[in-house]
Amino acid sequence: MTLSSLLKPESVAIVGASRTPGKIGNFLVKNILESGYQGRVYPINPREDEIEGLKCYPDLPAVQKKIDLAVISVPAPRVPEVAEQCGRAGVQGLVVISAGFKEVGPAGMALEKELLRICRNYGMLLVGPNCVGVMDTHTPLNASFSATYPRPGNIAFISQSGAMLVAILDWSRQTRLGFSKVISLGNKADLNEADFIADAAGDPETKVILCYIEDVANGPQFLETVRAAGRQKPVIIYKSGASAAGARAASSHTGALAGSDLAYETAFRQNGVIRARSMAELFDLANAFVTQPAPGGDRVAVITNAGGPGIITTDNIEKINLKMARFQKETTEALRARLPAAAAIYNPVDVLGDGGPDRYRSAFELVLADPGVDSVLVLLCPAAATDSEKIARALLEVQRNNRHKPVFGVFLGGEFLGKGRNLFEQAGIPCFTFPEPAVSAIGGMVSFARRKQIPADEPAEQFANLQPDTVRSLLDKVRSEGRLVLLGSEAALVASAYGIPAAPIHLAGTPEEAAEKAQAIGFPVVLKVASPQIMHKTDVGGILTNLQTAGEVRKGFIQISENVHRYFPDLAIHGVEVQKMMPKGDEVLIGLTRDVQFGPLIAFGLGGIYVNLLKDVAFRLAHRLTKREIRGMIMETKAYTLLRGYRGEKPKDVNSLTEIIARVARLAVDFPAITEMDINPLFAYPDGAVALDVKITIS
Ligand code: COA
Repeated sequence: MTLSSLLKPESVAIVGASRTPGKIGNFLVKNILESGYQGRVYPINPREDEIEGLKCYPDLPAVQKKIDLAVISVPAPRVPEVAEQCGRAGVQGLVVISAGFKEVGPAGMALEKELLRICRNYGMLLVGPNCVGVMDTHTPLNASFSATYPRPGNIAFISQSGAMLVAILDWSRQTRLGFSKVISLGNKADLNEADFIADAAGDPETKVILCYIEDVANGPQFLETVRAAGRQKPVIIYKSGASAAGARAASSHTGALAGSDLAYETAFRQNGVIRARSMAELFDLANAFVTQPAPGGDRVAVITNAGGPGIITTDNIEKINLKMARFQKETTEALRARLPAAAAIYNPVDVLGDGGPDRYRSAFELVLADPGVDSVLVLLCPAAATDSEKIARALLEVQRNNRHKPVFGVFLGGEFLGKGRNLFEQAGIPCFTFPEPAVSAIGGMVSFARRKQIPADEPAEQFANLQPDTVRSLLDKVRSEGRLVLLGSEAALVASAYGIPAAPIHLAGTPEEAAEKAQAIGFPVVLKVASPQIMHKTDVGGILTNLQTAGEVRKGFIQISENVHRYFPDLAIHGVEVQKMMPKGDEVLIGLTRDVQFGPLIAFGLGGIYVNLLKDVAFRLAHRLTKREIRGMIMETKAYTLLRGYRGEKPKDVNSLTEIIARVARLAVDFPAITEMDINPLFAYPDGAVALDVKITIS
């Protein structure tokens, strides 16, 4: 059974239907009938013969007809037996309204598992339990107990909170928003947000997909779904709640830099989800997408009758992914000819406080026609002479014949501008009271338009010279010694096995061995105490640099051992590591941490000892990480300014960095046992890059 047939059933049974007004079982029957549902409806209640004019059956087997969908509203403990009956009767989908499952504790959890087991056993789809129900205005079907049924339209709204859902539906009646589908997810025992997003993506009646969620049920499924759906239709999500605390141990730099919400933020951005920051923004965005054409680019023109709001709007535009449009010469010349001398003819165009319909019309016409303009924001402030109605009419006349670019109104004020605002809204042009939400709406539309331009399935990265067997045996060896943190020399071997260039480094147990290793590597060398327990080796005299001879190395070994012993008299060290001393490069960091939902998160940023202070880091999920994404990630950081060649320095090899990050991501995907990894610093050179310090923690 597909989800569409769950929302377009030919017959519906309501188990727990009731004659008693005010009971959920009564609302369910009334709602289905009032929605104009054309299929057969079977109320089920052992004590009634008739409910709302429909014949009532004592139980499901008594119906003896094909039933597609059963809406269940009996007390939770009775739900499994009803589900069993449904399964036997060949019902294809269940919507379980009843509360009293997972959300109430272990006993409810057991009940929910039993319900799911029965559904799986009979191949039935399950919405809920603990939900308000589902609606499809095009079927039409209202299989919910919501007091409000929305206007038909093309927004699919999927909500994890039943209360938010009914509140929004009620509010939506005073707006012009129309819905195609409304889904209350409830406990998501079976069907989850991703299932309904995928369905809505393929639904010809849906133009925009809106979600309110508190978490995602299945990270990888969600990522795959939104990635595909977000190319077809805008997927706009308002996510509340922080991700599970303690999801990652913050023992590494990367872990400490990754905030609790970061994985969601990254997952959304990387996979084409438009994130709304509030419920209001969720619906502002929906309204923009439903009513306006897609912008051809990010260049916004602003027309205003006052300076201040023009400046605020410009600030907001420049804060996000948008640009102020630069008009063509013809446009500014025509503006100069048609507006008073004191008017501003560059963007934002200021028609001045006494600007009436004629000036607005001229400015709007010219700006809208400029090929360097992708969208237009019209601001109107209530000056004494402002006639919002006449101005709105003039603007709408122009817009009527020019519907190819998105247009938004910002009428700053209240009642005084009410008539104009109403005209805009009636004409299907979003009209806001303040500039910020209008700018965010354009920003969301531009993100979506950009996303569509990226080639659909970039081929997976191919890497030569991966040696997973080497990594596996190294990790096994470390585990067999009862350790979870690799020594620097071991971590460097893991890196090298995945083609991540690391400065040669070897463990030595004695001064003599250290001298031999140094000779083999070539001078100068660096000595580092080999002890995963010591976090800041420099602070305890555990590092010596620029050693030039075997004698210096021997002496250095002894000196480090003594230094460390002074700080940690009881700590047994593994020895001293001898590393080739590398020429100085730009210090960057590459890191890896894991999120419970979305898996490995890769970090890139400015490296060195000030990492936590400067926090110049960008993140991406390793899941399907492409080189295009990696380049975008590098360019987001301030480190990029450095790498491009700061103050006459030679530019560094960003291609090598891209390749190294891709390989770290691949290592993370291939080895789930690697829970954290920090490469800090990695020296970036004009030609190539090399890891100096690699720290790996395993589970
Ligand atoms: N088959 C058919 N009907 C049955 C039945 C069965 N196996 N078992 C009971 N019924 C009937 C009852 O006789 C009753 O009918 P009546 O009104 O004629 O007496 C009806 O189903 C409902 O049962 P009742 O015991 O009266 O429960 P209720 O209506 O008080 O509550 C729920 C039932 C499901 C609504 C309630 O348990 C519940 O979960 N409420 C919360 C719902 C909720 O908030 N969901 C989440 C929203 S976000």
